[in-house]
Amino acid sequence: MSSPILLAITGASGSIYAIKFLELMKRLGNETHLIISDAGRQVVAYELGAASLSQLKSLSACQYDVKDLAATPASGSSAWRAMIVLPCTMGTLASIANGLSTNLIHRAADCFLKERRQLVLCIRETPFNRTHLKNMLAAQEAGAAIFPAMPAFYHKPKDLDEMAAFFASRVAQFIGIDVPDLKRWQGISN
Ligand SMILES: Cc1cc2nc3c(=O)[nH]c(=O)nc-3n(C[C@H](O)[C@H](O)[C@H](O)COP(=O)(O)O)c2cc1C
Repeated sequence: MSSPILLAITGASGSIYAIKFLELMKRLGNETHLIISDAGRQVVAYELGAASLSQLKSLSACQYDVKDLAATPASGSSAWRAMIVLPCTMGTLASIANGLSTNLIHRAADCFLKERRQLVLCIRETPFNRTHLKNMLAAQEAGAAIFPAMPAFYHKPKDLDEMAAFFASRVAQFIGIDVPDLKRWQGISN
């Protein structure tokens, strides 16, 4: 089995994407470890209901306390396939872009960058101010991928679940996981 995926959930709108990503990883047999920021917990409970926090826990193989700077992801020596921040707030983006390792999410991301590992930031905010844009560029230049949590419509999703699941599949595909049932663009046939 390959190394686990590290999923960090922060307090941006779109917690449904994280659930869909974890469900997909479980279905495809990929182990995922989880860190949730305090604001992330608040937004998950608000958007999806408090029961979703235990659902997230049951879908992941391991959970870390965001304040535990001695946990495995805080060291560059730990082995991971990729780290995804989904959804990623502007606050977490700023911390990562500026190397502020003040909680386990920021520290883990810092380790991914220094070890040249795949770090995917699914940022979510609208509109962006100049600081957001500068931080995106700084994070990208440091080695992160900016992968905005923007839903697509060309696959004609029937509902929110399908819309979020499609985005989660695109993230999985981006980190090199084959998603057999992903609807791929086939061109427009008139
Ligand atoms: C319901 C709700 C939705 C939010 N949505 C966003 C968002 O989409 N993007 C963002 O950058 N911050 C958003 N915030 C604000 C962040 O949660 C806040 O800045 C927090 O301090 C971020 O902390 P974290 O990055 O450690 O999770 C939202 C807050 C709430 C309560």
